[in-house]
Amino acid sequence: TMRGAIFDLDGVIVDTAKYHYLAWRTLAERLGFEFTEADNERLKGVSRVESLKILLEIGGVEAGEAERLKMAEEKNKEYIEYISRLEPFEILPGAKEYLQQLRQQGVKIALGSASKNAAFILDRLGIAELFDAVIDGTKVSKAKPDPEVFLTASRALDLVPADCVVFEDAAVGVEAGKAAGCSVVGIGSPEVLFAADKVITGLDELVG
Ligand code: BG6
Ligand code: MG
Repeated sequence: TMRGAIFDLDGVIVDTAKYHYLAWRTLAERLGFEFTEADNERLKGVSRVESLKILLEIGGVEAGEAERLKMAEEKNKEYIEYISRLEPFEILPGAKEYLQQLRQQGVKIALGSASKNAAFILDRLGIAELFDAVIDGTKVSKAKPDPEVFLTASRALDLVPADCVVFEDAAVGVEAGKAAGCSVVGIGSPEVLFAADKVITGLDELVG
């Protein structure tokens, strides 16, 4: 039985994947190459630094460490402009209701995200108080598919991973959840999330 639930943020709780995409696309344009939504799939769930590496690889652009740092900052500046205007309606269907339902059932809730902007986003959406623990990109050093974020989250809830269910929309996130020893519910397409124990289209399916 599920004693703890660990939620990814971008693409599971809130529709921010499109803002990540727009900000990366601006950078790609400045560097002189096209970055499509299909390319963007490869960046989902991946940390900022790792995402930039993939982006530069797609564009065939080489850049030194200092230059890459500046690029990542530039992307994040544009991303922050978007999320500063986030509104609660951008919470994905059923997400808030499902969190409330789990709390009522006594299930402990953690966030398990790669984002360093996670706390800001939860505040903007007014849902920070629904989480017992927030483990994000400021608290972990190894990017998904490494299990670190979910191991840290289950520990923060005082639970063993086997008692926790991870909710993820990214293939690397599903992999990370399984590697941690959690059950994993994939949110999205079964072709992409085949490693999950179960795949649903959205958290609204679980409300009731
Ligand atoms: C993940 C997103 O949740 O967080 C990635 O799926 C993103 O697209 C990563 O790159 C890091 O986010 P941030 O906000 O720290 O740049
Ligand atoms: Mg995600």
